[in-house]
Amino acid sequence: MKHVIVTGASRGIGLELVRQYLSRGDRVTAAARDASAASLAELVKSQADRLTVRALDVKTQSSIDAFASALGDAPVDVLVNNAAIAGHRGALESFAMDEALEVFATNAIGPVLLTRALRKNLRRGTDPRVAHITSGMGSISENTSGGWYAYRMSKAALNMASKNLALEFEHEGILSAVINPGWVKTDMGGQGAPTDVRDSAAGIIRVIDGLTAPRSGAFLDYRGEREIGW
Ligand SMILES: NC(=O)c1ccc[n+]([C@@H]2O[C@H](COP(=O)([O-])OP(=O)(O)OC[C@H]3O[C@@H](n4cnc5c(N)ncnc54)[C@H](OP(=O)(O)O)[C@@H]3O)[C@@H](O)[C@H]2O)c1
Repeated sequence: MKHVIVTGASRGIGLELVRQYLSRGDRVTAAARDASAASLAELVKSQADRLTVRALDVKTQSSIDAFASALGDAPVDVLVNNAAIAGHRGALESFAMDEALEVFATNAIGPVLLTRALRKNLRRGTDPRVAHITSGMGSISENTSGGWYAYRMSKAALNMASKNLALEFEHEGILSAVINPGWVKTDMGGQGAPTDVRDSAAGIIRVIDGLTAPRSGAFLDYRGEREIGW
């Protein structure tokens, strides 16, 4: 039984990852801004022995510190940095300092600070790995449509951070990779998205399971068939 931490677990892909890890028998710490979120409270009713819900706002250092301290020395086998916000979708004229900083803090800086805070727990884990949920929008080489300045920039920064973490953790046996979840039917992806959240989460879990040291640092796709161009 693995101990898996999923951030942004209140809804969307994060919530589905929690469901699927639980349903295969793993132990899950679901991290959510609102630890009393109804979606998670419902799951706790049936899975209280293997599901713990803890408060975490990934863009706030004090919240990261409190989360890490509540975990104590518990070994962590899988950390999924999933929480993110999209920011404004528009073109250059809608790019604004405060919003861009919030998107960066949530999508790129928070995941690095959380990973650092949980490094001691990952070191105690079995075949430990960190998966950062990125986006195809974070790929520079595959950017053919523009827009989404803050979001694209934040995910490209997350991609760089993941590679750095992979290098830094190389001698500790902790793997790190970014995974594109596809365009998924969630609040963020919208109902017009082609991918069901269950298929995305199942693919992400398969890719995390299959990650090996030679591919640590890679930019992977939830379908697992290819690495994405940076
Ligand atoms: N859906 C897609 O098509 C798509 C495509 C490419 C990449 N992605 C990526 O996939 C991941 C999940 O996306 P999604 O579609 O599931 O999005 P979503 O439905 O909008 O859910 C986002 C989750 O992140 C949480 N969150 C936002 N800010 C947070 C913060 N500061 N601290 C902690 N949690 C925070 C939200 O919590 P609250 O409920 O508290 O707001 C929510 O649980 C994201 O990394 C996203 O960038 C999604």
